[in-house]
Amino acid sequence: MFGRNGINGAGCVETAGVEAQQGPRHVAVIMDGNGRWAQARGRPRLFGHHAGAKRVREIVNACPDLGVKYLTVFAFSTENWNRTQTEVAGLMSLFRRYISKETRALRDEGVRVRFIGDRVRLDNKLVVLMDELETITELNDRVHLTIALNYGSRDEVSRAIKDLAGDIAAGTLAPEDVDEETLTRYLDTKVLPDPDLVIRTSGEARVSNFLLWQSAYAEYEFVDTLWPDFTKDIFAGIVSAYGVRDRRYGGVRP
Ligand code: IPE
Ligand code: IPE
Ligand code: MG
Repeated sequence: MFGRNGINGAGCVETAGVEAQQGPRHVAVIMDGNGRWAQARGRPRLFGHHAGAKRVREIVNACPDLGVKYLTVFAFSTENWNRTQTEVAGLMSLFRRYISKETRALRDEGVRVRFIGDRVRLDNKLVVLMDELETITELNDRVHLTIALNYGSRDEVSRAIKDLAGDIAAGTLAPEDVDEETLTRYLDTKVLPDPDLVIRTSGEARVSNFLLWQSAYAEYEFVDTLWPDFTKDIFAGIVSAYGVRDRRYGGVRP
């Protein structure tokens, strides 16, 4: 039961009574390398962010054929506020424009969009657009796209614990009932399955505070390609290679 088959039934489908193996159900991507991509072309970093944003739709559209039901992308971290004011403002304006421009296509293509991360620090106009996009696409089910915006795992876990502690103080949750599953219910990702595969582009082999709790047993793939050069073919290659990995979850191969 510890191989790629039979993991809570996730990633497996019934085909004519035989359990056929599928690729990862949830893929998370750390979209890194926009700045270096722009610098290599003698252009400002924001040029790279614009090129990177255009890549997202191609990858989203590749998901259904690859059997990827959930795609989560890291767009802006809680640490990214440390960049120059020009870059941060440019990114925020890019997010607003991206959402306004893509809303209709995402809706029509059956994409359900969710955002994770702390919205408190975000500009109100952006938050309104995020809420609208979530509402407009809430009945879609072809592919579930989650955008991590002002997201940091440690921040998410801290906020979750604050809420959980509030419920304990209010008497609606007993301390002895708190277990792994309880904390999971307080996270931004509560409705999502755990990622099976986490991809990071740009050659950096680190996780930069992304989905730490949720990726406890994820497979990682680090690729040298800079995010604006990341195509659906590269994505498909990584997703297929995942199928040959042997996830043991602490057990041994039977
Ligand atoms: C990723 O690209 C996008 C964000 C973090 C917003 P970077 O901007 O980090 O690009 P590099 O790593 O500097 O090349
Ligand atoms: C991680 O990339 C965050 C996003 C892709 C949004 P960074 O470029 O911010 O990460 P570090 O600073 O290299 O760890
Ligand atoms: Mg980077």
